Amino acid sequence: MPEDDHLAALVTALRAAGCVFAEDEAELLRQAASDDEELAALLARRVAGEPLEHVVGWAAFDGLRVAVEPGVFVPRRRSEALVAVAAGLVGRGATVLDLCCGSGALGLAVATRVPGVALHAADVDPVAVRVARGNLEPVGGRVHQGDLFGALPAALRRTLDLVVANVPYVPHDELGLMPREARDHEPAVALDGGADGLDLLRRMAAEAAAWLAPGGSLVSEVNPAQVPAASAALAAGGLVVRTVEPEDDDETVVLVGTLPAAGGARS
Ligand SMILES: C[S@@+](CC[C@H](N)C(=O)[O-])C[C@H]1O[C@@H](n2cnc3c(N)ncnc32)[C@H](O)[C@@H]1O
Repeated sequence: MPEDDHLAALVTALRAAGCVFAEDEAELLRQAASDDEELAALLARRVAGEPLEHVVGWAAFDGLRVAVEPGVFVPRRRSEALVAVAAGLVGRGATVLDLCCGSGALGLAVATRVPGVALHAADVDPVAVRVARGNLEPVGGRVHQGDLFGALPAALRRTLDLVVANVPYVPHDELGLMPREARDHEPAVALDGGADGLDLLRRMAAEAAAWLAPGGSLVSEVNPAQVPAASAALAAGGLVVRTVEPEDDDETVVLVGTLPAAGGARS
């Protein structure tokens, strides 16, 4: 089949499957495939509803290509606001943790924006940890596996200048309202935040002061309705809280919780 007809057939198949940006997706699938047989296999996966990022093996995030694969949360462009706020808080030499790191996209973006940070990341899911290692070890990052801060070596206590943490924050009863791509292809552990969506954030907030350096900050994101309860949780953890509302996104609020420079650390 001539090249143009080939592309047109791809676009038609993608459009029929409901892909809004069918032309762009067709081009990305074509770039990802090494031959026609592989292209047909990638197209079949996409038409069956897999996220494009899982199919092509990478996600665009903060100007980077971040490797992802089936079973790992696809980093959302809205989290670039969290990264921008976080990167403005630290400089060269800072110790940074990407907690609940998934692919490690947030940590990679911060380390790219702020060269010379000591980067750590952690996730409970072994698939995420393996993918994050692939993304972060080339830039000197160390990826730990385990439950929240429990994944970290004790030597990191009270040393973290910055924690970026896009924890799961979808209320359990709203999981069914998520797009099928997320419901069917991202693990529940990456999405489900419990009854009001803040189970993980509350646990993280309660432990954060023991791991932050004095003056260090934890930066997270929630939806606007969650701001009062999430802010209260960070404050109860000993952090001074402020919020940042991204200009181009009224569905996400960035929370910054800072450990006071003197006397705020807990054991
Ligand atoms: C919403 S995803 C965010 C991933 C990544 N930070 C991003 O924005 O692309 C949440 C991540 O939290 C991880 N997670 C869930 N519960 C956890 C826990 N108790 N401890 C550590 N990680 C956890 C999931 O495996 C998932 O990778």
